[in-house]
Amino acid sequence: MKRILIKEIKGMAKYAPWVKKALALVNKDCKVIADIGAGCGWLHPFLFEKFPNLKTLYAVEPNNIGRDKITLATPINGCFTDFKVPEKVDLILFSASFHHCSPEDLPYLFANIKNISKPDTGILFVTEFYINWGWIIRRIISCLRMGNLDVFAPAGGNYFRTKRQIINIFKNYGFDIKLHRERLKITSLTTGPQSLLNNWRYYYAYVGNKGNKGDTSL
Ligand SMILES: C[S@@+](CC[C@H](N)C(=O)[O-])C[C@H]1O[C@@H](n2cnc3c(N)ncnc32)[C@H](O)[C@@H]1O
Repeated sequence: MKRILIKEIKGMAKYAPWVKKALALVNKDCKVIADIGAGCGWLHPFLFEKFPNLKTLYAVEPNNIGRDKITLATPINGCFTDFKVPEKVDLILFSASFHHCSPEDLPYLFANIKNISKPDTGILFVTEFYINWGWIIRRIISCLRMGNLDVFAPAGGNYFRTKRQIINIFKNYGFDIKLHRERLKITSLTTGPQSLLNNWRYYYAYVGNKGNKGDTSL
């Protein structure tokens, strides 16, 4: 188990600069954090490094394969529709997990965010992606060639959203969000290096809760 975890963490290490840039957007002390869709918790050491007063880190993860590897946090068998986090937190983190949230689950997700939020709670997003027009054009071509609309369906648990769609989702729930483009020359979480052919664009973002607009440099 330890060997698998070390291999996984080494594999994710290439994303470290991205995580650090995202964390730099959080200009406050965080004592309680909830990581939603935490996986094996590979980036938890970065949280303890950034927030020396961090006392409690909840790691919400529905999949026991990842959850069983979590060592630095309190693992919770929860999901977007039911976090099961027992207290209000200073920061809510989504790392490569927000794009797994279906449109049907979004209202529950935002209700749960509200439930565990204080007026100054922030929400941090990292290792996330949006799609660009190239993606849409390629899918239209595939659709015409295959003669069906399946090519637009969510795949591998990923919900493909444009930058505008993501901004509008947050606007609907009362948040201003600025997506910071990440241009690291890295391999994608699933589809290979960022390129004209890939058409995924990577981002990180920080939003404050209602009453605290967070990073509003739109
Ligand atoms: C790409 S992994 C990212 C894991 C980790 N946060 C990281 O940065 O490596 C996506 C994670 O989202 C979790 N996930 C998928 N559906 C979820 C849901 N409905 N609620 C909460 N987490 C979910 C998966 O189990 C998985 O651990």
